[in-house]
Amino acid sequence: MKEIVFATNNKHKLEEIRRILGAAYNVLGLHDIGCDDDIPETADTLEGNAAIKARWVKEKYGYDCFADDTGLEVDALGGRPGVYSARYAGPAHDSAANVALLLKNLAGVENRRARFRTVIALVRGDDMTLVDGTVEGVITRSLHGDNGFGYDPVFMPEGHDVTFAEMDAEAKNAISHRGRATEKLRMLLD
Ligand code: IMP
Repeated sequence: MKEIVFATNNKHKLEEIRRILGAAYNVLGLHDIGCDDDIPETADTLEGNAAIKARWVKEKYGYDCFADDTGLEVDALGGRPGVYSARYAGPAHDSAANVALLLKNLAGVENRRARFRTVIALVRGDDMTLVDGTVEGVITRSLHGDNGFGYDPVFMPEGHDVTFAEMDAEAKNAISHRGRATEKLRMLLD
């Protein structure tokens, strides 16, 4: 069985990718390789941060590796919060505060267009490949739904009249940024 590291400690993300990639790959998380480094996410693009994480693991631990980074890009805010989505309202990574700040900054704004974008960097040997996945949508004017996480209660994907937080996980994954990027990763790894 081939071994590959996913540069995350998020159990939910690890379980999801193991299900998608099936038996062909043994997907290890950062804990599994004894890495508890605080990998710096200092780039100002999603591509840059995903690449830093994947290269870090390859260079320090020797494993082939992939890493992801996701952002919410809001047109009326010039693409913000983008790469800063997790810490939009401050370093605490507080989702409720992030959502509240987003709604405040969009108060009275008619153009609500936005997209989630996930970038995955795959490093194998000396090669790096980048793939991405996006889902277009709009930012609602108030919160709807309790499922999911992050900005889900205020993101309504195009072609739907409910937010991500009103969808079950399966329906969200079928159209989501992460689902689409992961599908491209699966094809690369086949
Ligand atoms: P990460 O790169 O997966 O850690 O995502 C960065 C930030 O983007 C998260 O902290 C969330 O605020 C936001 N985010 C990422 N994916 C989603 C999603 O599927 N729904 C809502 N918010 C998300």
